[in-house]
Amino acid sequence: MTGKKMIQIAIDGPAASGKSTAARALAERLGGYYVNTGDMYRTVAWAALQAGIDPDADPAAVVAKLPAWDLRLQAEEGVLQLILNDVPVPQAAIRAPEVAAVVSQVARIPEVRDWMLDRQRDCRHLGIIIMEGRDIGTVVLPDATCKFFITASPEERARRRLQQAGEVTPGATLASVAADIAERDRIDSTRAVAPLKPAADAEIFVTDGMEKEEVADLLIAAIKRKTGL
Ligand code: DC
Repeated sequence: MTGKKMIQIAIDGPAASGKSTAARALAERLGGYYVNTGDMYRTVAWAALQAGIDPDADPAAVVAKLPAWDLRLQAEEGVLQLILNDVPVPQAAIRAPEVAAVVSQVARIPEVRDWMLDRQRDCRHLGIIIMEGRDIGTVVLPDATCKFFITASPEERARRRLQQAGEVTPGATLASVAADIAERDRIDSTRAVAPLKPAADAEIFVTDGMEKEEVADLLIAAIKRKTGL
């Protein structure tokens, strides 16, 4: 009997480093499931705003709401759909600038991170999983088969973010986007619980000046070396 291959690929890195694009490409090429854990934090931030909570001023109100939120990753035709209280989470809503402005505040609440772990790990039995975030190699999947940390200079990341429609406020400039990214990096990498940092056993890739396909090719080569896929 041939069992299903269980392979976990952890991809971490700062905002707009190209990790989502790389993770999506890997899922497609390897026939695996792509999990964007940033979207899970964005969903909690969005739900908090909808409930009239200011996560920065009142993190306890976010924590108090957690039992009312049923957040799941549901496998549907080869992709994992994020579901909140039985309703698919709308991508446009969680990528809105209002959500981006508060998501780091939500992601630094220890109770939220703890609550998130089981929801993120729930998909491990599905087979090949490519999970991206900030603490996947360090905390969520410490035994992952391959761990990558993808980064790029702040200028390069600001340029990439500016090209992503819908994620920046109208009228944003390279300087204002760079400042927003720098502030999120600061909060993400200095928080007490599960800060953004490469796992000790992660391979680090700096992607300045690289095409998306080049990054995916490098990761695929590293995965093949390690797994024989
Ligand atoms: O990847 P992203 O920019 O969509 O992430 C949104 C926010 O969530 C960002 O502030 C970092 C945080 N995050 C986190 O703390 N841990 C993760 N595993 C994924 C995202």
